Amino acid sequence: MRIRGLRKSYQVSGRCLEVLKGLDLDVAEEGITVVLGRSGCGKTTLLRLIAGLETADSGEKITFSSKEREKEDNGKEKIGVIFQEPRLMPWLTVEKNILFGVKRKQQDRKKLSGLLELTGLTGFEKARPSQLSGGMQQRVALARALAYEPDFLLMDEPFAALDYFTRGQMQQELLRIFQTEKKGILFVTHSIEEALTVGTRIVILENGICKKSYDLGSLPFPRDLMSGEMLKIKRELIEQIEEER
Ligand SMILES: Nc1ncnc2c1ncn2[C@@H]1O[C@H](COP(=O)(O)OP(=O)(O)O)[C@@H](O)[C@H]1O
Ligand SMILES: [Mg+2]
Repeated sequence: MRIRGLRKSYQVSGRCLEVLKGLDLDVAEEGITVVLGRSGCGKTTLLRLIAGLETADSGEKITFSSKEREKEDNGKEKIGVIFQEPRLMPWLTVEKNILFGVKRKQQDRKKLSGLLELTGLTGFEKARPSQLSGGMQQRVALARALAYEPDFLLMDEPFAALDYFTRGQMQQELLRIFQTEKKGILFVTHSIEEALTVGTRIVILENGICKKSYDLGSLPFPRDLMSGEMLKIKRELIEQIEEER
């Protein structure tokens, strides 16, 4: 995915708030690219623009590599989005939530059982969202996004509302799923620890642009954040983000 010169501003009580100021970013097709930045730096705005939920003020059209792959009927890239909250339909069962956006002819039981297994939800297909824990609800949201078979997955602080332990477990599950599915993932977070846990690349978003990028592709998973190497990167990231204040 290639983004060039992306600009976005909002009008807030008669004043113009510039959020993205000519942002350039390349996102690898295979890998977890983490966009890391403070609250309010424009991470959600960036994801909404990529997902087409918002229109940019200016900038080149966001393009995707021409690699041949199965595309939707209209030839557009398929993008799956996972938000901070699960956003499930409370009146639908888990399985109906998962298959909600899938065309009827593609709805087969094998696909559903594969997704339930992948996300650890086997046995809960008839449950309703209110009967599930927060972590399980977010797994349903993940299964729903995967059911759509997206080329890219956009994740907006998907584990931020979960407790420490569930969050850690979900991060490991994401890595496991990523290794099976091999999708390009753009993962947004304000947590340095989370970025270091799941990222094959970390990009710092600050002042409306991508300020610095770290390639972590050579560091294997699972990562020990207490190791000397990881602590060194962590310190560098903190320094980069603090510098901006
Ligand atoms: N629809 C909107 N109208 C006005 N201002 C907005 C809107 N959406 C976001 N903003 C502002 O844009 C800035 C970036 O927001 P956001 O992208 O949500 O940041 P982040 O996700 O990094 O916390 C914030 O200052 C926010 O208040
Ligand atoms: Mg946000």
